[in-house]
Amino acid sequence: MHILITGGAGFIGVRLARRLLSDNRLTTASGPQPISKLTLLDQVAATGLPNDPRIRIVAGNAADPALIGPLVADADVVYHLAAVVSVAAEHDFDLGMGVNLHGTLALLEACRKTGRKPLFIKASSAAVYGGPLPAAVGEETALFPQTSYGMQKVVGEHLVDDYSRKGFVDGRSLRLPTIVVRPGAPNLAASSFASSLVREPLMGRAYVCPVPPETPVCLLSVRRVVDSFVHAASLTPAALGHTRAIQLPGLTMTVAEMVGALGEIGGKAAVARLSFSPQAEIITIVKGWPVRFTTTRSAPLGFRADTSAKQIIADFVADELDGKVAP
Ligand SMILES: NC(=O)c1ccc[n+]([C@@H]2O[C@H](COP(=O)([O-])OP(=O)(O)OC[C@H]3O[C@@H](n4cnc5c(N)ncnc54)[C@H](O)[C@@H]3O)[C@@H](O)[C@H]2O)c1
Repeated sequence: MHILITGGAGFIGVRLARRLLSDNRLTTASGPQPISKLTLLDQVAATGLPNDPRIRIVAGNAADPALIGPLVADADVVYHLAAVVSVAAEHDFDLGMGVNLHGTLALLEACRKTGRKPLFIKASSAAVYGGPLPAAVGEETALFPQTSYGMQKVVGEHLVDDYSRKGFVDGRSLRLPTIVVRPGAPNLAASSFASSLVREPLMGRAYVCPVPPETPVCLLSVRRVVDSFVHAASLTPAALGHTRAIQLPGLTMTVAEMVGALGEIGGKAAVARLSFSPQAEIITIVKGWPVRFTTTRSAPLGFRADTSAKQIIADFVADELDGKVAP
C-alpha cells in the first residue's frame, strides 16, 4: 500500500507518519494492508522521522497539479493535511484560497484522474461552524463559517462528499477541535495559545497568553487525533452514510482549568511563567468557535476523546520532552 500525506512535515503529519511506519500496516474496510511506501509532501523539510526505506520526502507545493499528479498516480490512501492555517489564511486571502480551496480541488482531481478511487482522508476543522450556534454542534448543525479558513474547510468537505458520491475517491473529512500540545515554535493558527501556554512554561520560558483565563476551549491530544486519522481509514462508506464529514470529539475546559492541570504536572514554577494580555484579533476568532460537540455520530463510529487535561499534558511531557520539565 502506498500512502501519501500532504503537509507531511507538519505537527500532525509527522506524528501520523511515525505511527503508520510503526504499525507497518493500515486497516481499511477491506482489512489490514501492509504499508510499502509512505510519501510525505510538504513545502518545508520534515524532521523527526526515522530512517526508513519506505519513506519518500517530496518538497513542493501540494496545490501544484504538475507535482501532485505523479505522486497520487499509485497512491492507495491520501491524507490531505497541508493547509494555510486560520490567522495566515485570514491575513493572506489569495494564499488561503490557493492552498485550502484550489489545492484541495486539484488534489481531488488528481485522484479522480487515476481511476483508482483512493481513500481520501482530509483534515477539516471546527472553524466550519459560526454565527449563532446551539449549545453543542455536530454534523447536523448548519455551517456559517466566519473566517476564510473556515469557509475553505466547508467547501473542502463538500468537495470530498461529492467526489465520494461520484465514486472518484472514498473520502472522509475529520473536523478537528484544537489539537494540543504542539512542540517547537507556535504556528499562525489562532488556537496556538492552547499549546503555547503548556509548552513554554514546562520548557522554562515565560508565555503571555492572548486570551483571558475564563476562555472555554475544546481540546484533543495529538495522540488521539492520530488514532482518529488511522481509525477513519477502517470505516465503511455505509457506516458514514449521508456525509463523509465527522466531527471529532474533544474535551471542553477553560484556559484556567488547563492552567490548573499545568500546575499539577509542572508545579508552581510553571504556572508563575504565565501571564495574560488579551489580543482582540485572537479573541474574536476564538469566540466564534464552538466548544461543545455532539458525539451521536462520532462515538458509535468509534472516535474517542481524551480523559483529562492532566493526561494530555503528561503525554506531551512523555512524548516531546523526554519526560523532563523545567524546574
Ligand atoms: N492543529 C490543530 O489544532 C488543527 C485544528 C483544526 C484543523 N487542523 C488541520 O489539520 C491539518 C494539519 O494541521 P497541523 O496542526 O499539522 O498544521 P501545521 O501547520 O503544523 O502543518 C501543515 C503543513 O502543511 C504544509 N503546507 C502548507 N501549505 C502547503 C503547500 N501549499 N504545499 C505543501 N505543504 C504545505 C506546511 O508547511 C505545514 O508543514 C491542517 O489541514 C489544519 O487546517 C489542525
